[in-house]
Amino acid sequence: MQIIKTVEELKNIRKTLKGTIGFVPTMGALHDGHISLIKKAREENEIVIVSIFVNPTQFLKGEDLSTYPRKEEADIKICQMCKVDYLFMPDIKTMYEEDEVLIKAPQNSYVLEGFTRPGHFDGVLQVVLKLFNLTQATNAYFGKKDAQQLALIQQMVKNLFLPINIIPCDIVRENSGLAMSSRNVYLSIEQKQEALKISKSIYMAGNLIAKGERDANIVKDKIYEVLAPLDIEYVKVVDKRFDEIEVIEPSNTIILVVVRFGNVRLLDNIWM
Ligand code: PAJ
Repeated sequence: MQIIKTVEELKNIRKTLKGTIGFVPTMGALHDGHISLIKKAREENEIVIVSIFVNPTQFLKGEDLSTYPRKEEADIKICQMCKVDYLFMPDIKTMYEEDEVLIKAPQNSYVLEGFTRPGHFDGVLQVVLKLFNLTQATNAYFGKKDAQQLALIQQMVKNLFLPINIIPCDIVRENSGLAMSSRNVYLSIEQKQEALKISKSIYMAGNLIAKGERDANIVKDKIYEVLAPLDIEYVKVVDKRFDEIEVIEPSNTIILVVVRFGNVRLLDNIWM
């Protein structure tokens, strides 16, 4: 595995690559969720590129940019074990200039995650577009865990006619059911235990819908009951355009839950 630190280096190497390229963008502190994306990329492509970059433009003022978990050495070992060909670990200077052309995410980026984190998705799309242009990958792998991020990236690819396939990947969970996240390390043992209510509520909703429930408000009320007394930021039932819906339509419905533990926000969702 070759570690690449600068944009120039990556551009030069890219010129020499032939064959299908699978690309997995990450912010590091790799866990089994990330690993599942990398494994899928490994299975489906001749060359695998992973990036690790804690992208400053997607963090709002006061968010955890400076304390975001960083585990460089462990991450390198994981990528080696997963037979990654190229690991791109740039610093901020090589990725950004002072005054840049910006990407403006569409209106549906200001609801849900974008409502509490306005501008977050502008930064996500900006860095992902840069990374797509640098890697010129065939396939890029994203987790359904960040459902709105995935949808906005798919929209960017469509709107800007980007020559890349976006491959959605299932949510990986701990044995307990808790969705894996780099931010889970911020939780105390008690909080982790309490957080199990999140996946429990999601599964319960999935079962209700499988049994025929179609009223989004009834499903939401039941989720609130399971989650109580946690600090719930939102429970939403949306279609795949992220518009809220009243009537659940299987194959076009996502149920999203965000719960706060102090400053830590835990996201989970289920795709029907
Ligand atoms: P990061 O949070 O590191 O996540 C990288 C990728 O891993 C994303 O596509 C995310 O959805 C996926 N992922 C995280 N947890 C997962 C889980 N439990 N199961 C399956 N997939 C999971 O998302 C970002 O980084 C950044 O916004 C990025 C796209 C890299 C742009 O900076």
